[in-house]
Amino acid sequence: MASVMYALLLCLSAGALSMVQGEDPYLFFTWNVTYGTISPLGVPQQAILINGQFPGPNINSTSNNNIVLNVFNNLDEPFLVTWNGVQQRKNSWQDGTLGTMCPIAPGTNFTYRFQVKDQIGSYMYYPVTAMHRAAGGFGGLRINSRLLIPVPYADPEDEYTVMIGDWYTKSHTALKKILDSGRTMGRPTGVLINGKNAKGDGKDEPLFTMKPGKTYKYRVCNVGLKNSLNFRIQGHPLKLVEMEGSHTVQNTYESLDVHVGQCFSLLVTADKEPKDYYMVASTRFTKTVLTGKGIIRYENGNGPASPELPEAPVGWAWSLNQFRSFRWNLTASAARPNPQGSYHYGKINITRTIKIVNSASKVDGKLRYAVNGVSHVESETPLKLAEYFGVADKVFKYDTIEDEPPATVEDKITLAPNVVNQTFRDFVEIIFENHEKSIQSWHLDGYSFFAVAIEPGRWTPEKRKNYNLLDGVSRHTIQVFPKSWAAIMLTFDNAGMWNVRSEQPERCYLGQQFYVSVLSPARSLRDEYNLPETAQLCGIVKDLPKPPPYSS
Ligand SMILES: *[C@@H]1O[C@H](CO)[C@@H](O)[C@H](O)[C@H]1NC(C)=O
Ligand SMILES: *[C@@H]1O[C@H](CO)[C@@H](O)[C@H](O)[C@H]1NC(C)=O
Ligand SMILES: *[C@@H]1O[C@H](CO)[C@@H](O)[C@H](O)[C@H]1NC(C)=O
Ligand SMILES: *[C@@H]1O[C@H](CO)[C@@H](O)[C@H](O)[C@H]1NC(C)=O
Ligand SMILES: *[C@@H]1O[C@H](CO)[C@@H](O)[C@H](O)[C@H]1NC(C)=O
Ligand SMILES: *[C@@H]1O[C@H](CO)[C@@H](O)[C@H](O)[C@H]1NC(C)=O
Repeated sequence: MASVMYALLLCLSAGALSMVQGEDPYLFFTWNVTYGTISPLGVPQQAILINGQFPGPNINSTSNNNIVLNVFNNLDEPFLVTWNGVQQRKNSWQDGTLGTMCPIAPGTNFTYRFQVKDQIGSYMYYPVTAMHRAAGGFGGLRINSRLLIPVPYADPEDEYTVMIGDWYTKSHTALKKILDSGRTMGRPTGVLINGKNAKGDGKDEPLFTMKPGKTYKYRVCNVGLKNSLNFRIQGHPLKLVEMEGSHTVQNTYESLDVHVGQCFSLLVTADKEPKDYYMVASTRFTKTVLTGKGIIRYENGNGPASPELPEAPVGWAWSLNQFRSFRWNLTASAARPNPQGSYHYGKINITRTIKIVNSASKVDGKLRYAVNGVSHVESETPLKLAEYFGVADKVFKYDTIEDEPPATVEDKITLAPNVVNQTFRDFVEIIFENHEKSIQSWHLDGYSFFAVAIEPGRWTPEKRKNYNLLDGVSRHTIQVFPKSWAAIMLTFDNAGMWNVRSEQPERCYLGQQFYVSVLSPARSLRDEYNLPETAQLCGIVKDLPKPPPYSS
């Protein structure tokens, strides 16, 4: 890859880097973000390209690599991407959310600098600004295991990134206008796999090629806007090996439900008749099922893919049972942030329970989505910067929502920046309770959490009896079915300002998100990196003197 330079840190100008981790290699990337025209569903439309590509280029890294990525924003609007699931240990400065960073102004460039510390797995990046994700600007991000760390399966012949998602033929500006005017953006037009949908006319180019007899790893992420997707490959079982950074117990599935924002790594062996096969992604829980497909070709195979697509499962119960079958492989070694806290999470005392209730309602005649009655609004000054510069009180109030929201919380929505104050290093239980009729997908930045339960109905403390306190998968995104709840547990040991958001951008844009402020009282470099020299400043902190740096 021409834009990637691989180099060891020998001598790098001081100050250019906010962190210095001796021998961990650096990966350098340059991104040119531009508009372009694509026609994935036959209708020409404006898209956001990265280095001319839609979806954007893959970032291929290895645990602990340092990533230096210079983004040139050649759009006519501010732009920012986040690294969904990359934990940014001590470094929410680079998280790419509007609560932690100033967006990159049009016609300017900004260089992200972060380390993929103690993580492995399949991730994705996507834009957080102005419904940009509906136009592209997203792509895959891999963190490979370091060579010395055993991986619980044989090296695959090759690895393929598969970005699936529902897709609108309306432009992101049209969709944003609809949302700004207080309406919902309605249903998508189709489903894309890596930016394409095979026509099935015999002229489709294959997305991937497999050698007969070999096993491949497919890294599948749902980067769509609204719908859960069922993913399957004609005639080929899928062996699940990794989910959002954790090696799983290796169950085999005919198909997998991938909810918005989630990623899975699947092993597929090319042991069938050598010809073409379709991979299929189709919407779940929708009246009209939209289907996207792409061709996988056997090398030297002959014959087209059968037009008969494997059937998708029906109903919620199937999906819930699939969730329950996911188990963490406790004996697999892998890079893990905070390994001490990882193994016996079921034995740690809960110090706080936060119940999150999502709701949708009109405010002054306009649709808004809320968390415990508060619909988040972005402030011009990123929350983290306001807090760091000591002017938080001019930008937001802490704790406008309650941990135990009253039963009437859905009746009224108020608009405000939504920030929860969380004590550093406490072990916390978060319940996501969904009283709505649609599926939710929740994501937490800065951490992985233990997904211990999803159940229909309402949560009560007695439900803790049913938690998986042994081998729940440590992950960063969890779905909540309609009229159901989900429980997660984690130790808030990563200082910073962290976004908890709906992975569905329509909901996120209209306020279904909040931030958790985790401050280390020590103001120490042990707990958090300093504000990078290169951080962009905006809003009321633009011309303020910088506070004294953290001490070591
Ligand atoms: C980015 O792409 C645009 C359009 O192709 C081109 O005009 C511009 O020179 C490129 N900028 C950089 C920094 O490569
Ligand atoms: C990704 O990085 C790994 C480790 O450096 C390397 O072995 C592999 O070939 C790379 N894959 C691609 C597609 O660049
Ligand atoms: C913008 O790009 C130039 C050229 O690559 C680089 O020297 C500079 O550091 C970048 N600026 C920022 C703010 O990242
Ligand atoms: C878990 O990982 C271990 C160690 O790599 C491996 O031997 C084992 O097969 C894995 N177990 C399952 C059920 O996948
Ligand atoms: C957890 O709480 C129980 C009951 O309050 C207490 O006996 C126990 O010592 C606590 N354990 C830890 C590790 O703090
Ligand atoms: C946040 O909580 C910590 C202790 O849990 C407390 O010391 C601090 O004052 C709180 N901060 C705010 C702004 O409420």
